[in-house]
Amino acid sequence: MDDPTIAEMRLPIEHVKTYEHELDYRDKFVLAPMVRTGSCELTRLLSLYYGADLVWSPEVVDKAVIGSERKVDPTTGVITYSKGQGPIFSTHPIEKPYLIFQIGSSDPELAVKAARTVQQDVAGIDLNCGCPKPFSTHSGMGAALLSTPDVLLNILRALLDEIPLPISCKIRLLPTQPDTLYLAARILRTGIRNLTVHCRTRDMRPGDKAMWERLGDIVKLGEQRGLPVICNGDGDGWPNRDRIREMTGASSIMLARAAERNPSVFASTGLVCNVTQNIPMLLRLAHYLDNPWGNTKFLLTQFKPTPPTNMTKQRRKEIQEIVSRSKTIAEVASQLEVELDGGEAFMEELRARLREREATA
Ligand SMILES: Cc1cc2nc3c(=O)[nH]c(=O)nc-3n(C[C@H](O)[C@H](O)[C@H](O)COP(=O)(O)O)c2cc1C
Repeated sequence: MDDPTIAEMRLPIEHVKTYEHELDYRDKFVLAPMVRTGSCELTRLLSLYYGADLVWSPEVVDKAVIGSERKVDPTTGVITYSKGQGPIFSTHPIEKPYLIFQIGSSDPELAVKAARTVQQDVAGIDLNCGCPKPFSTHSGMGAALLSTPDVLLNILRALLDEIPLPISCKIRLLPTQPDTLYLAARILRTGIRNLTVHCRTRDMRPGDKAMWERLGDIVKLGEQRGLPVICNGDGDGWPNRDRIREMTGASSIMLARAAERNPSVFASTGLVCNVTQNIPMLLRLAHYLDNPWGNTKFLLTQFKPTPPTNMTKQRRKEIQEIVSRSKTIAEVASQLEVELDGGEAFMEELRARLREREATA
């Protein structure tokens, strides 16, 4: 009997579509979806500033965003979707051409409704099929979809049918390689524009080494369909970019924790100091965009002491204490002696950098 993967690869693509705004997922450094870290625009804007080509928003559960209210701040331009207790997702219009909105869903109809809710503010829609956390899997979403491939495929098909934006999907490896290849072949056949693979299985811990060696065969399946496959897991930016590319054949790499620790991981010129550069930049941007303090505070606590830094342990501790006892952006800025003007200049510089990159693309 035929290998099911080979048989699947012989079948035609289900949805052959063209889009008014196509997205190119090849040869890219991309910011991974990250709950909390990515729930507002700040990390994404910093990542774009430093050189990220595409940025994923964190998983938003379909029912959470359906029926939310969209508001545009007349001063900052920030668009916020809110319902009940508060904001669900916010974005700045400058990131729209690079922003992929990730949906958590186990229901095709709800996924489509969720995508429709935000489609005017994003460039693409991604289905989360990798989150192993109970809040996602208990209702059949995230990594649970890996065990219900028919549901997974039906969600993609519904999105492809109804949404006028490129559709993509992020999965984890299955325990065996033949099962992974068969699932990938089925997904690649739907008509999606990109598949991202987190090179760990559902049961692996974040500290377990990503299995890049298993990605090459999936990348080859993508090539047969003319589709890119993004490699995710243990990327640290430029230092291991070439090694990952050589080992996997993937041209694009998605970074999560490395970018959370220091968003300058996207810069081809090397990391910049979190304390002297990224913290002041984040505070200025947060001030300019009127970011909720709770969110800014969380991001500040995620920055880790990465080189280059000549900070003593004592000073690091002091900074952590300042952040944890402060109640406003102004308070933390004053204690760290950071001048808060400059958010507008950052946005201007970001615009210029994006224009330059578009011109040379
Ligand atoms: C704080 C945090 C939140 C995450 N949230 C999401 C999410 O919303 N959707 C998703 O697909 N993956 C999520 N992930 C997984 C990452 O996108 C990524 O697959 C994983 O961290 C492996 O990449 P890394 O080795 O570069 O960190 C999250 C990871 C972290 C650390």
